[in-house]
Amino acid sequence: MNIRFLGHAALEIKIGNKILIVDPFISGNPKQNNINVDQIKADYILLTHAHQDHTLDVEKIANKQKTTIISNFEVVTYYQNKGFQGHPMNHGGAWTFDFGYLKYVNAIHTSSFADGSYGGQPGGFVLTAKDKSVYIAGDTALTYDMKLIGDQFDLDLAILPIGDNFTMGIDDAVLASDFVKCNNVLGYHYDTFGFIEIDHNMAKKKFSEKNKNLTLLEIGEELKI
Ligand code: NI
Ligand code: MN
Repeated sequence: MNIRFLGHAALEIKIGNKILIVDPFISGNPKQNNINVDQIKADYILLTHAHQDHTLDVEKIANKQKTTIISNFEVVTYYQNKGFQGHPMNHGGAWTFDFGYLKYVNAIHTSSFADGSYGGQPGGFVLTAKDKSVYIAGDTALTYDMKLIGDQFDLDLAILPIGDNFTMGIDDAVLASDFVKCNNVLGYHYDTFGFIEIDHNMAKKKFSEKNKNLTLLEIGEELKI
């Protein structure tokens, strides 16, 4: 599995010949550099919740014939009403897709579209493919529900928000990595806006002090697991 950081909470995940885009917010990212949203293709778009910093570029990237949008029922219905294809899920539910096994899991946050439409309840995903499991937390507070993920999956990577203010900060993300029983963490949802700027060295130190590894990627940089 190849995971490319597209900035903020946006990811491109390649599994075999399938491309999954997670929470695309590229064209509006003030830190965006040379990622051209028009060149991004997706077989699937996974959306953790409806907030604009996770959905801004969905309609630019999604091909009405070829792309399946996966999210909670309300988010998927919103896009289906605009003519896009979707696969609705809800919390605790899992489905086997042609790229792998995907479970929609709990998150503590909110979810509304920029136009005020209801975006259901926010979530995260556990993705299992090619003998690897990755937890994509989405925007969330630290929650004991994360212990269920640690009990049920043998994670290779936990992708956790670390920017604080709107989500967990670094200290809570260290605890989240205990709860999900995964010491290999990719941080996201930081530095994009003033409220979520972090000290990278401090963040890495707090993880390494607990014998954990925090990876922070440059926009466009890739991680293989
Ligand atoms: Ni959000
Ligand atoms: Mn967000």
